[in-house]
Amino acid sequence: MSTYLVTGGAGFIGSNYIRYMLKKYDDIRIINLDKLTYAGNPDNLKEIEDDPRYSFVKGDICDEELVNSLVPEADYIINFAAESHVDRSIGQPDDFIRTDVFGTFVLLEAARRHGSKLFVQISTDEVYGSTEDGSFKEDDPLMPSSPYSASKAGADRLAYSYFVTYDVPVIITRCSNNFGPRQFPEKLIPLFVTNALEDKPLPIYGDGMNVRDWIYVDDHCDAIDFLTQKGTHGEVYNIGGGNERTNLFITELILSTLGKPRSLMTHVEDRLGHDRRYSVDCSKINAMGWQPKHAFEAAMEETINWYVQNRWWWEKLKSGEYLEYYRQNYKNLE
Ligand code: NAD
Ligand code: TYD
Repeated sequence: MSTYLVTGGAGFIGSNYIRYMLKKYDDIRIINLDKLTYAGNPDNLKEIEDDPRYSFVKGDICDEELVNSLVPEADYIINFAAESHVDRSIGQPDDFIRTDVFGTFVLLEAARRHGSKLFVQISTDEVYGSTEDGSFKEDDPLMPSSPYSASKAGADRLAYSYFVTYDVPVIITRCSNNFGPRQFPEKLIPLFVTNALEDKPLPIYGDGMNVRDWIYVDDHCDAIDFLTQKGTHGEVYNIGGGNERTNLFITELILSTLGKPRSLMTHVEDRLGHDRRYSVDCSKINAMGWQPKHAFEAAMEETINWYVQNRWWWEKLKSGEYLEYYRQNYKNLE
C-alpha cells in the first residue's frame, strides 16, 4: 500500500489527479493537503470525500510544522499546490512567490529530512518563456516572463537543486495548458464557455493570435503517474498534447459548439508581457512509451458539455457566492 501526499488537490488538476488515481488503483492512500484558496474547491472532490482511501487536510504548504507532520506518512509527494493564474500574478505577485517558491522549499526540506521515496514537482511549460518557432527541449534555458512563470521556474530549479545537493529523489514535469472539467472559470476555456452560456462577451486579449498547446487534463494525470513509476530521479520531463491552437481558434470552436454568435467575440487590451507562443518537444517522454490518449476535438466537446451540464458547479464561482456556500456546506473544513 503506497501513500501519496497530494498538495493542491482541491484545485483543477489536483482534483482530477486524485479521481484518476483512486479509480486506477485500489491499494493506495491519498492525503490531500490544500489551503482552499479561491481556487481550491471542495465540490471538486464531493463524490470521493467519504472514500476510506482518501483524507483531506486543510492547510498551507508554507506551514512547516504541518508539512513535517504529514510528510513522514507519505511515500510519494506530488506538489500541485500553487497560485496558478498569470493575470493575478501580474496584479498581485506576492502569493505566487510565497506559495510557489517558499511553499515548495518547505515541502522539499521535509522530504529531505524524512527521506521521502519520491518528490514530483508539477512545473509548467511556461518556465521556458515564449518562442515564435521551434519547440523547447528539457535542457533549454529558462526565460520565464510573468511573475507566475518566474515563481514556477524558481520552484522547478529549487527541486532540482535538492536532488543534486542532498540526493532527494526528485522528478520535475513541465506540462502545457490543460483543459477539462473543474477548471476555475478565470482561465481561457472555462471562462469563455461559461460566458458564452450566459451570452456575455468573450474578452480576447490583443489580436488573439497567441498560441498554446492544449492537453486534456486526464492525459496530464496519466503522464504524472507514468513518470512516478518510470521516471529517473533528477530528470525533467516535458508533457504536451500536441495541439497548438491560437486563442481565436479556441474561441470560434467554443462558439460554434454551443451555437452562439461570433458577435460575442470582443477584443480587449492585451495582457502585460503576454507570451506569444508556448511549445514543448515531448520526444523524451514519447521515447519512454508515453503518448496522450485523448483526441483534441472529442475531449474539447466533452469538456464543453461538462460545463453545459454542471452549471451548479460554476455559477456560484462566478457570482462570488461560493465562499459563503462552502462555509455552510463544508463546516468540517473550517
Ligand atoms: P489551481 O489554481 O486550479 O489549483 C491550485 C490549488 O492549490 C488550489 O486547490 C489551491 O487551494 C491550492 N493552494 C494554493 N496555495 C496553497 C498553499 N499555500 N498551500 C496549500 N494549497 C494551496 O491550479 P491548477 O490549474 O490545478 O494547477 C495545478 C498545478 O499544475 C500548479 O502547480 C500549476 O503551476 C501546474 N500546471 C498547471 C497547468 C494548467 O494548464 N492549469 C499546466 C502546467 C502546470
Ligand atoms: P490562460 O488560460 O490564462 O493560460 P496561460 O496564460 O497560463 O497560458 O490563458 C490562455 C490564453 O488565453 C493566453 O494567451 C491568454 C488568453 N486569454 C484571453 O485572451 N482572454 C482571457 O480572458 C483569458 C483568461 C486568457
